[in-house]
Amino acid sequence: MTVIGTPKELAKGENRVAMTPQSAKDLQKLGFECAIQSGAGEASRFSDADYRAAGVKVLRSAAELWKQADVVAKVRPATTAETKKFRKDQTVISFVYPAESKKLLEASASAGTTLVAQDMVPRISRAQKMDALSSMANIAGYRAVIEAGNSFGRFFTGQITAAGKVPPAKVLVIGAGVAGLAAIGAAQSLGAIVRAFDVRPEVAEQIESMGAEFLLLDFEESGSGEGGYAAPSSPEFREKQLELFRSQAEEVDIVITTALIPGRDAPKLWLKDMVEAMKPGSVVVDLAAERGGNCDLTVKDEKIETDNGVTVIGYTDFPSRMATQSSTLYATNIRHMLSDLTPEKDGVINHNMEDDVIRGATVVHGGKITYPPPPPKIKAIAPQPKAAPAPTAEELKVQEAEAQRKAGIREIMMLTGGALFLMFIGLFAPASFMQHMIVFALACFVGFQVIWNVSHALHTPLMAVTNAISGIIIVGALLQIGSSNWLVVVLSAISVLIASINIVGGFMVTRRMLAMFQKS
Ligand code: NAI
Repeated sequence: MTVIGTPKELAKGENRVAMTPQSAKDLQKLGFECAIQSGAGEASRFSDADYRAAGVKVLRSAAELWKQADVVAKVRPATTAETKKFRKDQTVISFVYPAESKKLLEASASAGTTLVAQDMVPRISRAQKMDALSSMANIAGYRAVIEAGNSFGRFFTGQITAAGKVPPAKVLVIGAGVAGLAAIGAAQSLGAIVRAFDVRPEVAEQIESMGAEFLLLDFEESGSGEGGYAAPSSPEFREKQLELFRSQAEEVDIVITTALIPGRDAPKLWLKDMVEAMKPGSVVVDLAAERGGNCDLTVKDEKIETDNGVTVIGYTDFPSRMATQSSTLYATNIRHMLSDLTPEKDGVINHNMEDDVIRGATVVHGGKITYPPPPPKIKAIAPQPKAAPAPTAEELKVQEAEAQRKAGIREIMMLTGGALFLMFIGLFAPASFMQHMIVFALACFVGFQVIWNVSHALHTPLMAVTNAISGIIIVGALLQIGSSNWLVVVLSAISVLIASINIVGGFMVTRRMLAMFQKS
């Protein structure tokens, strides 16, 4: 049986683990056996006993684990010591950063080990569940706000208390990708006033839908690049951008920077003079510290305080600081990757290099380095189809007149048909029936016209009105239901039934709509 194994992470301060008891249970459903090195989950608060209870074999040493595991799932790229344990036909899944890990790729190719990079999962909708960069960026964004709050001496939310008035904190988020949007969400939910900026104009809507303000730059340039990432901006654009930030520096209390461009050093966006312009007690959290930082004063992996009392946080281990959460999400990413690698769910890995996602993430396979992958067949963000040219005013007028003429003919035909039908019935039916019939037909016609012309947005109040009408129908039907004529009794019973369905349905729909606004 194929064994999936997870060793303890070797990097200092790394608290995450690539397999959780829950992910192990799910992996076993795919037909795999699971193994873990003793103590590997401890820093994420998963004990050996938890793993045993989930049916995972707990192995004493890393050496034993690397020997037994056909697939090794881990977090950090394998160290040189670990690559020595690589064996032929083994698959190793982890973060790899292949552009910077030439030695690792070579070691893996010469050992005949397949290397799958969780950080190379292409950015297409189908692959989102395996995208470890996104799941970790989400945690980093959230944690950035928590860290900022920890160093910030005030509330996020504004308060009016007996002891005095507290203004809300002002948070500026630079770069609204995955981490930036998570930071906006967290800061917003703590009650801060949140502003955000990104070079990609398409994120404006996402920022605003989260209740934050998009800082608009009056400049004709789109910063959108390939695959949802940003492209480097022109020097003129950058100048304008810095001007905008400078105008914000005195006002904002917390700045969270997340701006990155793949394969490049982080752009410097929060310059020394901006930090100097900030109020004492303000906080800058630089999520780009790993790549040199967006802030001039960032010190990688450290929290410093400037002379004017501004705290600058340059930690690079935000996900590891929330290890239980990040291990859970990362292990789920790995489990989804393995699920795609096991299409038959029979515990047999089928490394299908024709599959866009598997191909994209595989950096070494069959003794060869397969990085960089060819561009995926599906683009992350599909190009917008070219819209047909808009009709001119003259053309619009002609189209409108034609539509009106057609509607008129249809109405006349319907009215004539209805009149002929009534005349035909009138030839045979008694006068009293005809009276009721005409009222009925008119009620149907007017009712149909009224409801048909109501816009969708007003359907809820309309439903309330139809419920009221149903109530009237029920009263009328109850008055008639005791009649001695069986036909009247049957019709009344049908009326009561249909009106009741309408009323109960109305309540059900209302309940569902209200549930949509409730937090679970
Ligand atoms: P990232 O970490 O490379 O960059 C973070 C943000 O910084 C980006 O929004 C970028 O536009 C912005 N940025 C770069 N230079 C800047 C500058 N000079 N000033 C201000 N902002 C700047 O990107 P991330 O967060 O990993 O993802 C970016 C986008 O990729 C997402 O917003 C999304 O549209 C797309 N995506 C798609 C996925 C999928 O379809 N599976 C999964 C994850 C992301």
